[in-house]
Amino acid sequence: MKLIFATNNKHKIREISALFDERFKVIGLADIGITEDIPEDADNLADNALFKARYVHDRTGLNVFADDTGLEVDALDGAPGVLSARYAGANMSPDDNIIKLLKELEGAEDRKARFRTVIALIYDNSEYLFEGKVEGEIIHTGRGTGGFGYDPVFMAEGYDLTFAEIPLSEKNKISHRARAMKKLLAFLAQQPV
Ligand code: IMP
Repeated sequence: MKLIFATNNKHKIREISALFDERFKVIGLADIGITEDIPEDADNLADNALFKARYVHDRTGLNVFADDTGLEVDALDGAPGVLSARYAGANMSPDDNIIKLLKELEGAEDRKARFRTVIALIYDNSEYLFEGKVEGEIIHTGRGTGGFGYDPVFMAEGYDLTFAEIPLSEKNKISHRARAMKKLLAFLAQQPV
């Protein structure tokens, strides 16, 4: 069965489609002719993910899932949250986002943070949400070259290496996205195809 992943990020599609069994063929937006960026301007992750899934479902009627992720920092009242991708501004780099984050946290004692992913699924015309999160803290200076985004400054609870220092295989066991995906996969495994 075809399942649309509402993203144009080829890297994400490759990574995620490897997790599905042969019952599902995961395809991206480009494969169904949707090339425009779907707006992500809701004020929470679930609404952004739902908006993207509905956008595709309304146009195709196909089963579809979409994800949205944010880094939530307690001392910043949950920022950057839904704005994680463009925290330092619309055309700024991941490094600029990190610089801004470290600046905002200067002098803060509480550096607790979490990555949270919400996946919205529309399956047989019904909507479902799956959430995954990983707790940790923001360290003072970036470390490591792996991963992407805020990985160099995020250290998961129980680790003394950042997400940019641990192997990808390890990150994929404990990450917010992996945990949300696991719930999605468990749900789909129970569905008759
Ligand atoms: P998206 O919803 O997956 O596009 O993620 C939004 C933003 O959150 C990204 O642009 C990154 O800044 C950040 N982000 C998401 N996942 C990760 C991760 O695994 N590590 C570090 N940053 C992440």
